Amino acid sequence: MHCVRKVTEDLYWVGANDKRLNLFENIHPIPRGTSYNSYVLLDEKTVLFDTADWSVCRQFLDNIEYVLDGRKLDYMVINHMEPDHGASIEEILLRYPEVRVICTAKAADFMKQFGFAPENVETVKEGDVKSFGKHQITFVMAPMVHWPEVMVTFETTEGILFSADAFGSFGALDGKLFADEVDFDRDWIDDARRYYTNIVGKYGPQVQNLLKKASALDIRYICPLHGPVWRKDLEYFIDKYDKWSRYEPEKKGVMICYASMYGNTENAANVLASLLCERGVTETALYDVSCTHVSYLIAEAFKYSHMAILSVTYNLGIFPVMKNFLEDMAALNLQKRSVALICNGSWAPQAGPQMAAAADKMKDTTKLSDVITIVSSLNDATYQQLEQLADTIADSLK
Ligand code: FEO
Repeated sequence: MHCVRKVTEDLYWVGANDKRLNLFENIHPIPRGTSYNSYVLLDEKTVLFDTADWSVCRQFLDNIEYVLDGRKLDYMVINHMEPDHGASIEEILLRYPEVRVICTAKAADFMKQFGFAPENVETVKEGDVKSFGKHQITFVMAPMVHWPEVMVTFETTEGILFSADAFGSFGALDGKLFADEVDFDRDWIDDARRYYTNIVGKYGPQVQNLLKKASALDIRYICPLHGPVWRKDLEYFIDKYDKWSRYEPEKKGVMICYASMYGNTENAANVLASLLCERGVTETALYDVSCTHVSYLIAEAFKYSHMAILSVTYNLGIFPVMKNFLEDMAALNLQKRSVALICNGSWAPQAGPQMAAAADKMKDTTKLSDVITIVSSLNDATYQQLEQLADTIADSLK
């Protein structure tokens, strides 16, 4: 049975949700599932904006059939070719053989790479315009947000931005299509941040380019490929994207993350957290990296201004899970953070210099002190160093 929502008078959401998938991109946990959004415009011509993941194709096809109500599908606009959206293109081509595909030249190349080549393709570039009756669209190129073929499509009649992966979020919709139908700041922002930072976070400058172009448009709706549609308070979410893509922290506070084998490094993390609280720094978040998926750690690292990173030494290096986190931060271009490093080791505490080298890979990062080295467990001297570090962090947060 169809399961659709009306976005505007002529536009329908025909996407679907997946709550069975454990790992998005086979790497990021999605305990709240995900939606794959797709939209159908009914005008003198009918237009489908993007398709959906193969896992939800049956629901997606039911939805399109219902909305078209016997009409043929005239156009399919492909903003993004990643298979979580592009996997059902071939099925649409088989069912609606007369459909004309509108996409970038790069997206047309990708279709061939993925094993199908539509006969009717119109490639478009920046600023091209297409009319379907009373609705007109224009194309805005968004390369590397977060794939090279990406464009976004702006419907000029009602101000609808089909934003591809930009402005997306993890989380199934559960019937609530619009961001104003949920408490987004309470229930969605963490997953939206985790989605952005892990999927698009590396491409901040490209997102900034897109935001700059978007600022010239009179956007009244944002229709992303994942998560809720925006029709109110657009500035709230645009502002988050602006901060995230400039790598500016959202909160002045301290993320304390530790890798501990037998509890002594964990003890140092707890001591530091307590010392910070005693100095009035309560905007803190403490994570054991061994039991927190790195996608959550990345999202928190983007959120906070300061980080205290504590790692035990393992095989004469950084504890593997912490090493992965440090490498992931650098890979995603996280920058502009104030960082404190604490290393532990019983006979060769060598993680410290390697942690310092890893932190150096993050642009514009300030080290709050020299690496503090604990030998097996805290003693009076290292406790005192943590007190000094807590003073430094508290001062720098003022
Ligand atoms: Fe949701 Fe880049 O695909």
